[in-house]
Amino acid sequence: MGSAMPMKTPVILGTNGAAAIASADPEIKAVPLQTAELILLGEVGSGSGSSVWRGRVAGLDVAVKVLKTTPGTSNKDALRGFVQEARILSQLCHPSICMLYGTCMQLSSPALVFEFMAGGSLFDLLHNSPAELFPSTLSRIALEVASGVAYLHQQEVIHRDVKSANVLLDADLHAKVSDFGISTTFGPEHTAETGTYRSMAPEVLTHHPYNEMCDVFSFGVLLWEIGHIEIPFGSDSFLQAAFAVAVERKRPPVALPPPLGALAPLIQACWQHEPSDRPPMSRVLTELQAIEAQIRQLEERHAGGGTCMRSAIRSLRAGPMPAQRLPSAEPVQAPQAPPSAQ
Ligand SMILES: Nc1ncnc2c1ncn2[C@@H]1O[C@H](COP(=O)(O)OP(=O)(O)O)[C@@H](O)[C@H]1O
Ligand SMILES: [Mg+2]
Repeated sequence: MGSAMPMKTPVILGTNGAAAIASADPEIKAVPLQTAELILLGEVGSGSGSSVWRGRVAGLDVAVKVLKTTPGTSNKDALRGFVQEARILSQLCHPSICMLYGTCMQLSSPALVFEFMAGGSLFDLLHNSPAELFPSTLSRIALEVASGVAYLHQQEVIHRDVKSANVLLDADLHAKVSDFGISTTFGPEHTAETGTYRSMAPEVLTHHPYNEMCDVFSFGVLLWEIGHIEIPFGSDSFLQAAFAVAVERKRPPVALPPPLGALAPLIQACWQHEPSDRPPMSRVLTELQAIEAQIRQLEERHAGGGTCMRSAIRSLRAGPMPAQRLPSAEPVQAPQAPPSAQ
């Protein structure tokens, strides 16, 4: 983590960085930000290709994602991800998509400036926090993510890395989809294996052509993770998890405490082996809307609120349950490529 001392850096938003990023891709629309002073307040996250800082611009909290540059290397892949993220996000606007405000140069590197998500990632909320989680909170978060992903598909964008670490929460725990570094658009046939093994669709793992249905699969895994407050295939290595999904057609065991049990058929529909057997995100969204309303009403009827799901899940788990196998036939080609991401 970086220093808590505010670091003041004058920057021209929408000019230098936009030029640096746009010069790599003329399709990027200029992001309309005015000259401003950006203050970096401290590092809040770090990935392989970037570091993310909390900052302030004109009294507004922002997150600044700065491209990591290693002396002597061109870091082309990370720059490509940056360009892609700027290009795609500059065309999107939705309450469940983390908003890109603009681009700039920061710490001598191109940087992307986003709305600040004070609640951190959904992964941390589920697995690294003691917060009590009620069924209505979990189902609302799932609904918000579904609405973001359904919007992406409507805009002909495939996210390709839907997972809890890429869902960010605001101060009121409203969820937004983020991290478009490996996103792409509908159209040309996609075969590249990209994403995160524990959440990846079998057709992506096995290098078959795929489309936006790979996001539906990953959303199914995310829905399982939200409902069980557990990392999918958490006791397996990411390669074992990939092999289980793509070759053995296994899925994590579904054992949801009431009232989250209503999510089970949707989870199982989303992670069907054949992409054409999965529902489109628009239908997932409609079904989740109905389930969320049901869960919320049930909780409202019980004065005093719902049950904390962490304890309900703890008492449901008598012991480890074996992964479930999909009823299926043909063997599938094993994953070939080296791990791209965990
Ligand atoms: N808009 C934001 N607000 C607050 N924190 C953020 C924001 N964007 C990213 N982060 C933090 O930085 C981490 C990495 O960001 P991400 O965009 O997922 O980059 P990477 O491509 O390295 O995975 C996130 O998990 C989160 O902790
Ligand atoms: Mg990420």
